[in-house]
Amino acid sequence: MIQQHQVSRIEWVADSCWLLQAISEEFSRTKPFQGLTIGTAIHLEPKTVALLMTLRAGGANLVATGNLNSTQPATVEYLKRQGIVVIGEQTTDARAHRDFIDTLLDRQPDLLLDNGGALFVRVAERPYKNLLGGTEETTSGRRRLAPMPEVIALPILVINDSPIKQFAENRHAVGQSLFESYMRFTNRSTNGKRVTVFGYGACGKGTATCFRNAHSNVSVVDVDPVTALEAHLDGFSTPLRSDAIASADVIITVTGFADIVTAADLPLFKDGVILFNGGHFPSEIDVEGIKSVAPLKAVDTYANDGIETLLLGDGRKIHILGGGHMANLAGPRPLGNSIESMDLGFALQARCLERVAGGKLDHTSCVVPVPADIDAQVASGYLDLNR
Ligand SMILES: NC(=O)c1ccc[n+]([C@@H]2O[C@H](COP(=O)([O-])OP(=O)(O)OC[C@H]3O[C@@H](n4cnc5c(N)ncnc54)[C@H](O)[C@@H]3O)[C@@H](O)[C@H]2O)c1
Repeated sequence: MIQQHQVSRIEWVADSCWLLQAISEEFSRTKPFQGLTIGTAIHLEPKTVALLMTLRAGGANLVATGNLNSTQPATVEYLKRQGIVVIGEQTTDARAHRDFIDTLLDRQPDLLLDNGGALFVRVAERPYKNLLGGTEETTSGRRRLAPMPEVIALPILVINDSPIKQFAENRHAVGQSLFESYMRFTNRSTNGKRVTVFGYGACGKGTATCFRNAHSNVSVVDVDPVTALEAHLDGFSTPLRSDAIASADVIITVTGFADIVTAADLPLFKDGVILFNGGHFPSEIDVEGIKSVAPLKAVDTYANDGIETLLLGDGRKIHILGGGHMANLAGPRPLGNSIESMDLGFALQARCLERVAGGKLDHTSCVVPVPADIDAQVASGYLDLNR
């Protein structure tokens, strides 16, 4: 008799995270976090469960909260069932999110795992004694924390700045995942579409490449002329910003900066343009600004599909996906980046937190890249498991 089991996505993900499985096994022997509490503010979705369970295997007590918009209720329920303290719930309200961050810091965790800088920016305002340091996952977080090493004065290793994170997640996985998001939200074809990508960093490179591979006609806009030249030499069109907007059927922002596409661009938009964002913060497309300035006849909301259509007075339509939130973690069945890319990134997280917990780093390691020996260890581990 063959046994039939109902298995959840959380278990599918755990089963696919080979690196984290190997690290968990090691951590359950070495217990690098025994007696320590780790506070985390990262998307609460199935892949982060695999990371959190690895840290717990290493002896950590965990207090977790999410980021804006991306918290998944099934993940929260699962974590709570595992005895992990979860603060807050799914919200798009920035003030509510700030309160969750404060409630987490009230517990004075010994280590912090930050994603976007929310925890450490607040620590700079309200420091506490037992904090050893921690990690920051993203470009956006690094940018917020970089000006304040004297204020924070604790080791913070920036996962984003590992070459592995850059190519495995930002370039390959974000590109695939934003492409998948476009298809998932719209169910429209990419063939022959004119797609404009704002930002040609690692995420923009992957995104532009994935849409080109899917037979779109891709233009790139980057404020840095050197980066724009790179896009040009990579074979993308690099028109003037206004031409790139006016010709686009699809506009994607992946810069990490606010107000990349705003109400000032309204006269340029083509009828039926689709706008969506892949950058960390929902401010890259100024959705509220566009709505408040545009002469709107109506707003159609396809609630379960995460699409909003603005019907302008002059008859044009503008479609916005996921309310301008990171599209790969918004809308229907948001799966985020591929499991393998997150397994790699989270292996870096686990090893970096282990390094900070070891107590050998000091304030001179505040907002610095992942140590090269950790990159080498994680890369070798992945290759060994995939040969
Ligand atoms: N969606 C995801 O799953 C995911 C994953 C990783 C990172 N991110 C986020 O994506 C964003 C980009 O990350 P990255 O690693 O590619 O960053 P990056 O710093 O490598 O690249 C950003 C690029 O945007 C350009 N830029 C800045 N302002 C611009 C403007 N006004 N117009 C056009 N270009 C502009 C910069 O010159 C730079 O080349 C960040 O917010 C990051 O946190 C998202």
